[in-house]
Amino acid sequence: MTTTRRDFLKKAAFAGAGIATTTLGTNAAEKQNTIAPQKKRTPSKSGKIRVGFIGTGFRSQEHFNNILSFPDTEIVAICDVSDFSLNMTKETFKKREKEFPKVYKGGELEYENMLKKEEFDVIIISSPWEWHVPMSVAAMKAGVPYVGVEVSAANTMKECWDLVNTSEETGSQLMILENVCYRRDVMAALKMAREGLFGELLHCRCGYEHDLRAVKFNDGKSYSYVPGTDLKMGPGAIGEAVWRTFHSINRNGDIYPTHGIGPVGNWLNINYGNRFTSLSSMTTKSRGLHKFIVDNGGANHPYANIDFKLGDIVTTMINTVKGETIIVTHDTNSPRPYSLGFRLQGTEGVWYNDGDTLYIEGQSKPHQWDKSGDWFGKYDHSLWKKYGDEAQNAGHGGMDYIMMTDLFNAIRENRPVPLDCYDAAAWSAISALSEESIAQGGILVDFPDFTCGKWINRKPYFAMEI
Ligand SMILES: NC(=O)c1ccc[n+]([C@@H]2O[C@H](COP(=O)([O-])OP(=O)(O)OC[C@H]3O[C@@H](n4cnc5c(N)ncnc54)[C@H](O)[C@@H]3O)[C@@H](O)[C@H]2O)c1
Repeated sequence: MTTTRRDFLKKAAFAGAGIATTTLGTNAAEKQNTIAPQKKRTPSKSGKIRVGFIGTGFRSQEHFNNILSFPDTEIVAICDVSDFSLNMTKETFKKREKEFPKVYKGGELEYENMLKKEEFDVIIISSPWEWHVPMSVAAMKAGVPYVGVEVSAANTMKECWDLVNTSEETGSQLMILENVCYRRDVMAALKMAREGLFGELLHCRCGYEHDLRAVKFNDGKSYSYVPGTDLKMGPGAIGEAVWRTFHSINRNGDIYPTHGIGPVGNWLNINYGNRFTSLSSMTTKSRGLHKFIVDNGGANHPYANIDFKLGDIVTTMINTVKGETIIVTHDTNSPRPYSLGFRLQGTEGVWYNDGDTLYIEGQSKPHQWDKSGDWFGKYDHSLWKKYGDEAQNAGHGGMDYIMMTDLFNAIRENRPVPLDCYDAAAWSAISALSEESIAQGGILVDFPDFTCGKWINRKPYFAMEI
């Protein structure tokens, strides 16, 4: 399969020079937009959309709340290995006065049993990163027509290909649940970019700049570390401290790129007429987590000897086939307020997320910033206009609700998912490629073309105005 793909890539290189565009007609181009023929759903007896969950931790509680508010869905079964998470889920269902679903709990592979025994229209996977791909692949192979997987979707290049290959082979739609693509300002920026307000796009910046030190350790009772309590990770902890911290011990790269690169991917039409070509990553030394341990647990704490591989601030530079550049930052071990650091810049204007400023040549006063909110109010995306009121009470400023609504609308209408396996692979690949680049002193590493040439003719599909 790999050799075939490599051969195809060589051909795609010629296609990039314009050869394929002349041989493919409009119909062929339209056909290429979808990843594979849709599976037909066998309707449930109740006529509702049957939902299953693998992983029922903190993130899933937000998904439960959103999905439980959709009257035409039923959560039929859930799977987890943790009593803590299952009890938390029980409380969520109780608060919402909803019937608690069938529980699959056992070994780490119990989800396979659930997939064998139950029939689902969609599976939501909200588990630790290392489980995303095995679970997604199992769900697609079990015949589930829609699979939503949390971010990042994949950790290694093989895993990225596994998502693409399995989605293509099975015809199951894989959606990366990248909620930031649905953030209100991000979508208004997308609308402005699509309407040409920024001119021809040149440069974007983004990242995940979030002080997670108190999430990577806790006492097994509070989600965030409370000073003076036990400092734990692994089985004695709860939430992401159980598993995420180990990625900081064992990996050095941008291990969580999609909150930033997802929106940028949409602005730049990546996989839809454009693609990433290569990246180079560099990193600072690793200090933050060791300092946090010593500051809170003392120099003799057993974790004080851990050699964290993850550099505190990882910077990745990416270029695209259309001549844009992107800078992506991963910064989770240092004291700082949260930011995704977006910047969107073209030949006619620029938006800075930090500071919320925006400038459009010929419309803003020369050399003076406008407030971005004044522009975004005018360019509110139609998904927000339609669902914004319902979304207000949901988590993360409503973007989670809008995302789930968009996914479930696709399921209801038997359409392709808005953010598909190619998006999941191209965005998540930054992790493995940045690790490779850093390990070799920041060398330029090529992106594979996960679409095998389809990017040339695919037409933008995500969040077209409704
Ligand atoms: N999009 C966002 O804004 C956002 C926010 C938070 C977390 N996330 C993502 O959501 C995912 C889950 O994060 P979380 O904060 O809920 O973590 P969590 O640790 O609270 O939840 C993960 C759950 O998966 C369960 N699990 C682990 N192995 C399993 C297995 N083999 N079978 C069944 N269940 C298993 C764990 O017991 C746990 O309940 C991660 O990928 C994370 O990056 C995304």
